[in-house]
Amino acid sequence: MKVEVTGAAPLEAEASVLAFPAFEDEIAGNKGWFADLDRRLSGHLSVAAKEEDFEGKPDQSLMLRTLGKIRAERVLLIGMGPREAAQGALPRTGFEALRMAAGKAARAAQKAGASRLAFVAPRFPGQTAHEARAIVEGALLGAYRFDRYKSDKKKPKDIESLTVLVPQGLERSKEVKESVALARSIGSAVAWARDQVNAPPLECTPTRLAHAARELAKQAGLHAEVLGPQEIAGLRMGLFLGVTRGSAEEPRLIKISYLPKGSAARKAPTVFVGKAITFDSGGLSLKPTESMVDMKTDMAGAAAAIAAMKVVADLKPPFPVHALVGACENMPGGRAYKPSDILIARNGKTVEITNTDAEGRLVLGDVLAWGVETLKPGLMVDLATLTGACIVALGMTTFGAFGPDGAAIDAVLAAARSAGEDAWRLPLVETVKEELKSDVADLKNSGARWGGSISAALFLKEFVGDTPWVHLDIAGPSNASKERGYVAKGGTGVGVRTLIELVRARQADESVPPRH
Ligand code: BES
Ligand code: MN
Ligand code: ZN
Repeated sequence: MKVEVTGAAPLEAEASVLAFPAFEDEIAGNKGWFADLDRRLSGHLSVAAKEEDFEGKPDQSLMLRTLGKIRAERVLLIGMGPREAAQGALPRTGFEALRMAAGKAARAAQKAGASRLAFVAPRFPGQTAHEARAIVEGALLGAYRFDRYKSDKKKPKDIESLTVLVPQGLERSKEVKESVALARSIGSAVAWARDQVNAPPLECTPTRLAHAARELAKQAGLHAEVLGPQEIAGLRMGLFLGVTRGSAEEPRLIKISYLPKGSAARKAPTVFVGKAITFDSGGLSLKPTESMVDMKTDMAGAAAAIAAMKVVADLKPPFPVHALVGACENMPGGRAYKPSDILIARNGKTVEITNTDAEGRLVLGDVLAWGVETLKPGLMVDLATLTGACIVALGMTTFGAFGPDGAAIDAVLAAARSAGEDAWRLPLVETVKEELKSDVADLKNSGARWGGSISAALFLKEFVGDTPWVHLDIAGPSNASKERGYVAKGGTGVGVRTLIELVRARQADESVPPRH
């Protein structure tokens, strides 16, 4: 999609669909853009709004043909609620409602067969760069489709161009230009993550995921290192090796690295770790049919961690950033690990297997320990579709954030907020640790049902030592069962934007000269 920003007057814009964020009070009082537009359309807009009960509420939209009265072929109004409320809320929520609106507009334009979409920024004072970013991200993500496997010739056409209409003069602002460039980079990274998640498990095997990661690294100018089964065995990652035993597919350990030039390369790195079970059958503790269908998405954490590196390459922060991924399948083959097996982790801890379906924490345990040991991270964030319990706790659109009190968890929650991703902190309750006590080993890999996402997080904590660490359980929001704003059905690419904001925040921090 071609993206441009102009300071042209909205009513003169040339487009197949001209989309406006529509505010309730402006519609009710026939004021602002609504009034201007209504006048140009000879009052047809207000009549249509009345007939369709369109009041500008956040879940409403209205599309209308302009029949030659203005240059744009259609106008599309996307409800935003009252203007003042939106003005207060948007900056606090990372401009999420605007991103959603742009996503809706892109999808509606696509359904209408429109090739050129224009979107009018809401023009809150001093917010143009943020607005432009949210609009571009929303439209790019809203236009995303996974239809590679559809042989149907009537597939919707791609939107060819997006024009963002900002107040005159601001189209030349450096801030706006940088925001739009960032949004495009993020849009393509999130789409990459969604593609990996949506790919069927036959296509997204550990080997192929590693290959895709290597390609991404090559194109972005990043370092990539991929290790196979012998090397993983050489690293004595007994937990990882245990999980992969039941599968005919070889495991891969993937490391994608960004290193700044000069002495900055020696700074403590920011490290992302992603869960990559390319298919989770549950292993011998086999999942029932209904729970298994979505389990190709059990690598969404890894997809997000790797995708974020693509944007990191563009941001070029003055500190190293790495993504680490242990990729394998969890299958019940003849050599599969078994309940009551005892596995020995990279860090020496022994783990009694009580449920082979609690596999993600095993692979992550070894990879986290390896990351701590070899990279000495200043901050380590893992993303994992780890527990159904987290979906029970927070639903399908919010991810859980776990970590000891301190700067790390605060930074991650702030990053999620400014990215417009919904995160909520969950506690590392000490008493739940009882659940992981084993009679025969240092730990069990699963405990009772209650507090299931907490015991999973506490398990991971055994592998990070003193490293500042945050665990994100993205089991709910990694996969969407219905369309919502810029979110398409299927893989969502959740987490990418939070990781990017985290890097940007550290970048902003470290480029401020130290004060004495
Ligand atoms: N990959 C699943 C978690 C999951 C469930 C992700 C639903 C997305 C949607 C994970 O490996 C798993 O099976 N967890 C078990 C843990 C239990 C065996 C302790 C779970 O949540 O039931
Ligand atoms: Mn599982
Ligand atoms: Zn899993």
